[in-house]
Amino acid sequence: MKAGEKSYKRYTVTSALPYANGPLHIGHLAGVYVPADIYVRFLRMNNEDVIFIGGSDEHGVPITIKARQQGVSPQEIVDKYHEIIKQSFEEFGISFDIYSRTSNKIHHETAAEFFRKMYDAGQFIEKTSEQYYDEETGHFLADRYITGTCPVCGFEKAYGDQCEKCGSSLNATDLINPKSVLSGNIPVMKETKHWYLPLDQYEPWLREWILEGHKEDWKTNVYGQCKSWIDHGLQPRAVTRDLDWGVQVPVEGADGKVLYVWFDAPIGYISATKELTPDWEKYWKDPETRLIHFIGKDNIVFHCIIFPAMLKGEGTYIVPENVPAFEFMNLENDKISTSRNWAVWLHEYLKEFPGKQDVLRYVLTANAPETKDNDFTWKDFQAKNNNELVAIFGNFVNRTMVLTEKYFNGVAPPQGSLDDLDRATLREMKQIPGRIADSLHHFRFREGLAGMMNLARLGNKYLTDSEPWKLFTIDPGRVGTVLNISLQICAQLSIVAQPFLPFSCAKIRQMLNIPEYKWQDATLLNWLTAGHQLNKPELLFQKIDDKTVEAQILKLHATRDVQPPFMAAPSDEPRLIAALPEINYDDFSKLDIRAGTILEAEVVPNADKLLKLKVDTGFDQRIVVAGIAQSFKPEEIIGKRVSILVNLAPLKLRGIESQGMILMAENPDGTLFFITPDEGAVNGATVK
Ligand code: 2FM
Ligand code: ZN
Repeated sequence: MKAGEKSYKRYTVTSALPYANGPLHIGHLAGVYVPADIYVRFLRMNNEDVIFIGGSDEHGVPITIKARQQGVSPQEIVDKYHEIIKQSFEEFGISFDIYSRTSNKIHHETAAEFFRKMYDAGQFIEKTSEQYYDEETGHFLADRYITGTCPVCGFEKAYGDQCEKCGSSLNATDLINPKSVLSGNIPVMKETKHWYLPLDQYEPWLREWILEGHKEDWKTNVYGQCKSWIDHGLQPRAVTRDLDWGVQVPVEGADGKVLYVWFDAPIGYISATKELTPDWEKYWKDPETRLIHFIGKDNIVFHCIIFPAMLKGEGTYIVPENVPAFEFMNLENDKISTSRNWAVWLHEYLKEFPGKQDVLRYVLTANAPETKDNDFTWKDFQAKNNNELVAIFGNFVNRTMVLTEKYFNGVAPPQGSLDDLDRATLREMKQIPGRIADSLHHFRFREGLAGMMNLARLGNKYLTDSEPWKLFTIDPGRVGTVLNISLQICAQLSIVAQPFLPFSCAKIRQMLNIPEYKWQDATLLNWLTAGHQLNKPELLFQKIDDKTVEAQILKLHATRDVQPPFMAAPSDEPRLIAALPEINYDDFSKLDIRAGTILEAEVVPNADKLLKLKVDTGFDQRIVVAGIAQSFKPEEIIGKRVSILVNLAPLKLRGIESQGMILMAENPDGTLFFITPDEGAVNGATVK
């Protein structure tokens, strides 16, 4: 610790509570949970008293909209996704002390009590105003229940709380041409009463606390966003909504009103701590606790301004010491999007890459969007696995283990006398843990990971330069020294890589037959004494081939814009997919659909879903690749009359250019049917 820095007794580390209305994708892991987990694992290794809090955010309008679309209750939606999310976190080794959920009773009580305390102290402004109302369905239209044109950028599908195109934070009344999401109707204005948090009154304190107090230690992206919010002038913000899903507003005359989701969700961190331990208050009220929020950049204002204002207003809580917000992770040069199904879903990755959790943790940390948006590509995933994890880290540990087995029957040889290279290597080893620690203390995870890989590089180079395999017959003692030092490097790797690659480090410890060490032991340099018995070597990482990553790229493109089955209604009975938002005739008239006939059909090698078809469109014969191989055999469909979209931009699938799309009807259970034109419609007849 440097002079003037505060000392802490304990840490409360929170990670944003994901909305339980869909599964998690790599963007979530990269921007919040992997860095938070690395940080927490590192603190635990340093014997710090730390709690790591997570949970599902189960309120808010998107959840109720989804429930409505699928004809189920919001509780059914959150029950389904809470389980999927929790499971993915567990499998990726995100080591929460508790993973809770905001539909829990303890959370409703805690959030209501928090509101009530502020209410009783007169900390809200009560205001009646006119808000948009859908007369047909009887709903006030808050947040995502209303869409319209963004007054800032002109985007036509902005929501009542935010424009997703330009990122502006909006009020429903800002929207041009507002429309109800529920009925499509133009809403009317109706009076309603709400409670507002007067953020403007917190401005002097926020200026002092953030703008003066955290200029040096907060990340520039976080500090900059806070400064911009504060400098633009803070306005009172409504913290209640007219909805029937959420935490009831605990005051008289507030029937049918709930707390705004962004009021209750961060209180979820507190409720989860209460659920975790009866001794929860010290983690939230003792000024010697360091509160750290890991979040994505879209959550900055809520964690740096609104929640701290609530904590300060309530009066008995500490405020965050740091909020290391990350930027976004893109995928194959495009924004990750749940609605467009442009994502790598964690539960799918876990099925398709079993046992490779550390590979994804590694790649996402190496590319962490720490200071700017970054990109995940499957080719880079493959390269980092093959060229770094396999060729450097895994190769070094494996060579050391195999050589020790071969020359010394798996027993650690004595270190013997050292030469200059040995001494230089040991000196370098002494430096590495301190450097990594410094990076992690400052939330520089990429740098920390690079420091860890430098140790693996050092080991690899040491082994390669020493060439023990050439020496055994002439100088077995020297070989013993080299392998002893190499084994020490493996042991040191199992310590300093532990926060990043916990699964692989457990394997190394097992192979080396050593315990799980603390960070303070990372400079010991004598974890294995002569005579120490090792276990059998096993490979830490395996190469990933071209075919595997190409299949992933293909899957991404082939399923783009297609609702994945796990997003469908949470029920045993397959249900019809709800109607899509309205389009106008112009949208429809852009589609050039024709009657046609399948002339030829064959399977596409190495692709279980694809058939290559030749189709007569009346004006040409063209190749179309269709994802129907699991429903039809090629020979069954030759001669079949079809409807074909002929002006779809060509797309390469498995190296074949597909020129159009065969229209199919899909039943809720996934069975497919051709849309066959009636007899008499010639090939090339237009479908209107
Ligand atoms: O942006 C989100 O996904 C929110 N559900 C994060 C909430 S963080 C906290 F406040 F709970
Ligand atoms: Zn906009």
